[in-house]
Amino acid sequence: MLERIQRWLHNLAYKNRRSIKPGNFVLLPASSERQMKKVTIKLGGRNNRLVFGEGVVISHCEIRLDGEDNLIEIGARARFSSGKIYLRRTCGQHIRIGADTTVEGAYLLVDEAASIDIGNDCMLSTDILIRTGDKHSIIDVASSQRVNLARDVRIADRVWVGRDVQILKGTVLQPETVVGACSLVSRAFDEGHCVVAGVPAKIVKRGIRWDRSLI
Ligand SMILES: CC(C)(COP(=O)(O)OP(=O)(O)OC[C@H]1O[C@@H](n2cnc3c(N)ncnc32)[C@H](O)[C@@H]1OP(=O)(O)O)[C@@H](O)C(=O)NCCC(=O)NCCS
Repeated sequence: MLERIQRWLHNLAYKNRRSIKPGNFVLLPASSERQMKKVTIKLGGRNNRLVFGEGVVISHCEIRLDGEDNLIEIGARARFSSGKIYLRRTCGQHIRIGADTTVEGAYLLVDEAASIDIGNDCMLSTDILIRTGDKHSIIDVASSQRVNLARDVRIADRVWVGRDVQILKGTVLQPETVVGACSLVSRAFDEGHCVVAGVPAKIVKRGIRWDRSLI
């Protein structure tokens, strides 16, 4: 009872808001809940799961999860400082952010049948957009088939994404990739230890690794 009151007071003081429809599931360890500030969680639909690891630090963020059988998972000790995480109107998809990954500001969006995976110990700067779909259709006139289907985005462990980057459907980035500021990434790279940059992003440097500190 006392714990519930403390939690309620914490959420009131730090402007956390939660609306969770029955039939959905949230795993939020106390070590993560204590560090939440200005986080809005809206969980609707059916059989969706929102799972936080231990020691997650999340603030100024809106999480929306609906549809059916979807999962948002934020790994242990990850930090998400601002933005939106939306997984909506789809079935059996996920958004995963790996352990120890840090995100200064991002909008992660899944609203069609495709998922986003971000590995462990990645570093994402601010003003980043990652999306798996295009929101509207492009149709081949001859066949009347849609040609811009949603595709997964897979970001491996140890990827640094610079400021103001857009990452679109079908992007695959390998370990020890650095994405240059203001780049637009829209394809699969099968090589790691490189810098990719530009619109569209191409490999501009090879044989590198990155470090959070200036050495
Ligand atoms: C990606 C980055 C880290 C690479 O730095 P670097 O290894 O010193 O790269 P260089 O300056 O040697 O550039 C290598 C080539 O890539 C090009 N390039 C670098 N960054 C680019 C970018 N963002 N967009 C387009 N081209 C870029 C350079 O013009 C150069 O081209 P050239 O070989 O034809 O001359 C750096 O360019 C960058 O984008 N920094 C911003 C990082 C950031 O957003 N930090 C915020 C805090 S996380």
